[in-house]
Amino acid sequence: MIYNNWNNQKITEINRLETRSFLRKESYKIHPLNGKWNFLFLDSPKRIKEEYLESKFIDNLWDRIEVPSCWQLNGYGNMHYTDLFYQFPILEPLVPLNNPTGIYRKKFILNKSDLDKSKIIRFYGVDSAFDIYVNNNYIGYSQGSRMISEFDLSEDLMEGDNTIVVVVYKWNNDTYIEDQDMWWLSGIYRDVELLIEEKINIWKLKVETKFDEKIADANLHIDIELANKDKFDLSKFNYKITLIDNGKIILRKEFSINSKINELIINPKKWSAEDPNLYNLEIELYNNKKLVDKVYEKVGFREIKINDGKIYVNGNNIMFRGVNRHDHNSDSGRTVSIEDMEKDILLMKRHNINAVRTAHYPNHPVFYELCDKYGLYVISEADLECHGFELTSNYKRITDDCKWENSYISRGKRLVNPQINRPSIIMWSLGNESEFGKNFIKMSEVIKKIDGTRLIHYEGDVNCQVTDVYSTMYSNHQQLIEIGENDILSKPHILCEYAHAMGNGPGGLKEYMEIFNSYDRLHGGFIWEWIDHGIKAIDENGKEYYKYGGDYNDKPHNANFNLDGLLFPNREISPSLYQVKKIYEPIKIEGIDLKKGVFKVKNFYNTISLDNIQFHCVIKLSEKLINEMNFKVENLLPNQEKIINLKLENMNLNDFIEDCYINIYAELESKEIWSKNKHEITKEQFIIESSKKAEDISEDNRELNIIESFDKLAISNNKFEINFDKVTGNLLNYSYDGKVIVEDGPNLNFWRAPIDNDMYVLDNMKEKHRLHLMKEYPVTFTYIKNDNKKYVEVVSDVIVGAANNEWLYKCKYKYLVNNNGKINFTISGITLDSNLSMKSMIPRIGVRFDLSNEFKEVTWLGRGPYETYPDSKESGIIDVYNKTISEMTTMYPYPQENGNRSDVKWVELKTSDIKLIIETNSTIDFSVHEYSQEQFEEAEHLNELMKDESINLNIDYAQNGLGSNSCGPGQLEKYKLKFKNFFYKFSLEVKSYD
Ligand code: GAL
Ligand code: MG
Repeated sequence: MIYNNWNNQKITEINRLETRSFLRKESYKIHPLNGKWNFLFLDSPKRIKEEYLESKFIDNLWDRIEVPSCWQLNGYGNMHYTDLFYQFPILEPLVPLNNPTGIYRKKFILNKSDLDKSKIIRFYGVDSAFDIYVNNNYIGYSQGSRMISEFDLSEDLMEGDNTIVVVVYKWNNDTYIEDQDMWWLSGIYRDVELLIEEKINIWKLKVETKFDEKIADANLHIDIELANKDKFDLSKFNYKITLIDNGKIILRKEFSINSKINELIINPKKWSAEDPNLYNLEIELYNNKKLVDKVYEKVGFREIKINDGKIYVNGNNIMFRGVNRHDHNSDSGRTVSIEDMEKDILLMKRHNINAVRTAHYPNHPVFYELCDKYGLYVISEADLECHGFELTSNYKRITDDCKWENSYISRGKRLVNPQINRPSIIMWSLGNESEFGKNFIKMSEVIKKIDGTRLIHYEGDVNCQVTDVYSTMYSNHQQLIEIGENDILSKPHILCEYAHAMGNGPGGLKEYMEIFNSYDRLHGGFIWEWIDHGIKAIDENGKEYYKYGGDYNDKPHNANFNLDGLLFPNREISPSLYQVKKIYEPIKIEGIDLKKGVFKVKNFYNTISLDNIQFHCVIKLSEKLINEMNFKVENLLPNQEKIINLKLENMNLNDFIEDCYINIYAELESKEIWSKNKHEITKEQFIIESSKKAEDISEDNRELNIIESFDKLAISNNKFEINFDKVTGNLLNYSYDGKVIVEDGPNLNFWRAPIDNDMYVLDNMKEKHRLHLMKEYPVTFTYIKNDNKKYVEVVSDVIVGAANNEWLYKCKYKYLVNNNGKINFTISGITLDSNLSMKSMIPRIGVRFDLSNEFKEVTWLGRGPYETYPDSKESGIIDVYNKTISEMTTMYPYPQENGNRSDVKWVELKTSDIKLIIETNSTIDFSVHEYSQEQFEEAEHLNELMKDESINLNIDYAQNGLGSNSCGPGQLEKYKLKFKNFFYKFSLEVKSYD
């Protein structure tokens, strides 16, 4: 029979087993059904022929597909990315008949000895719905893409050859509530296995831990349910329960089948994200002393409570330094390996992230086990979102319609039941972006009944009717302060999404953290999001790049809105993750009296002291180490602070001719399971400015040759030559030893390749103000030589502005050319805008140079080693760094402005013969690329970036901030670069190595 269950709203499943706790057992014989299956792809279920479902059908000519995988990534059907658009008209609850369908067939052999055993087939995730047939029998149906489904095949499998046929549909009625912002991907994309065990077995398990008032001793409460128990005489059955702590037995006790298991455990070690102690619980089922079944469960003693509007875990007030994570792999889409999951979790731990929201669906059970093991607080979210309805006249249409109640409730149960024993999960989230209505009320009631120990979360419940926490997304800093100050809804608050990490950004994280720390009811938040969803591709020239929405002729789409993670699609770290690590630091070091060496250390962990932290203090003059020392801060409890005196007064730290840097690193003394030895938790830098700056006196007495022609000016000695155009005022080039080093520039530059966070202001910048078309108009060019020709001062006055705009800059380039070839630049600008017409932010204020492409390497003193921007720079402390020029570009999969380094004192660019030195008495921002600014603006994919003929160097007075406006707030006022007067100085000098 061919069924139409996928388009029948009354049917959400057929014969699917009630969800139960996910268990690890010794007694399972697991027959993996992963691997190659035979596969036929159809454009509609109407093309399924009856014979495809029969065991005898010869499927040799069918394709072979890997299970688990997403069929679109194997060339079947079209990749499609939407944020919230459904792909078809809203005919709710119906989906179209041209519903892509994949038929999977597999044969496998069952041993005779397994014939009378229990045999359960378990699908960890099939997108979006499927019917299953075994040996010509119809077994059942399931929908719900990101949840486990199980069927009992005990009576259907035969000794020897068995044939399983799984018919998977891209869409089903519930597609209307699976409208998350991600690729539409289909197929058997998570594992499939057959579980073979005794007919009577431990089917369901619920372990709860409840502390006494002092949060010292705890009750261990265990509920067990057996499968097929009605078919057995249970009088001879009993349980043996063992609780083990690191090999040491804490409890070992027998219980009869019907007894209540409730044991007092004296002073157990507690589980928290910072100290994830897990006990091994073994539950054995005996029949007349013969072992029938044995479950291995991990138990974490922890209790979640809300008190006084605050969230406590084991009596400790908790701050979430969280991220949102989707399952993603740039090759396999939503099919992720255990290695991917573990890598994510390890990276989170190493970057001070303590919480993760499984946006927006339940994850593979292994993910939660890894969170238990390594220590992360989890908000586990139901697979439920009907965001597309926001674009209709009735966002609530589904959420408030009781026809959908079943689907909502079923998703609640299938969220909670499998993971009910995971200590890492501390909140259940009802779903995402689905408004609010009756179905959520029902769903939350059902969840509360199954599990009364965890908090309920759902951002769409804006009045906290059923939720325990008040959750908002993307509230800006000011709104967050207001939430902190006013006791709106009297519930603890979290930002379930904030700091949209699309492209270059987010900026403004530091201020978010400061606000979280200022108000008791604020419990932090979860950055959106962990990883870019780009799909790896290789172009005809063999260049690798990433695809996103619209690259597959998928329409309508949301373009690169899914490239919004802290990791690049291949799980490489983007600079923003380093900034997250710094801002999420659990230890804060503040300077009290720097010259004396007095500091304050604050413990921002929620549950542990700093006893395992070794502080390492390094005192440096640019790269030169002048002293170092270690210290400890013992017995400092969470939220407490201590003054540390390193007694540095005798070092006279401001008496050097250079600025002095005091860097304090906090490192783990003994390593954690997620870290290497001496893992750095955080660092802080303090600067003591020098009181005696060096004088720049030239000893050279050579005279300069100054040759003025009709429209050119040339200044040279035997080593260098500089040419100016007297009409445009431009410095045309600078050669050294006969080679052109500077091919063009400095040229004033107020533009940068737009970043994703500019998307809503770009029109204003471009269409209204034409900032991207600003041009330079020469006004006057003069020069003065001093009497002994030791230097020449060249001045070029220009106007810089955009066509038909009444605002403009009056700028001045001043070049002091010294007889040794060094140029001192003074670049300044005065705004002219009598009617205050210029309202936009300015992307940057600076100059650009084109340099010879023989430059390959760069060294600088400034922030680094990775890029920093005004509102995202605390993690990159000032030091001397060295990189190749190609390493100076951050390869955003959607190219944009990148690679800036802030607070820079000097830069040295090197060819094999010479170095070009740029230096300033104040600080500059700089970036250097093999690509031009125009390339970063025009290219839409990485493979389109073409190396420029010259090296592009930006020496900037300032850069605009980043913000996170692609979904969150724009730059904070103080980080907005305004149309304002500016003035800065730097020098340029070329030296050969000898
Ligand atoms: C939120 C949503 C996420 C994602 C994000 C933007 O509104 O919950 O799924 O769409 O915005 O990237
Ligand atoms: Mg959405």
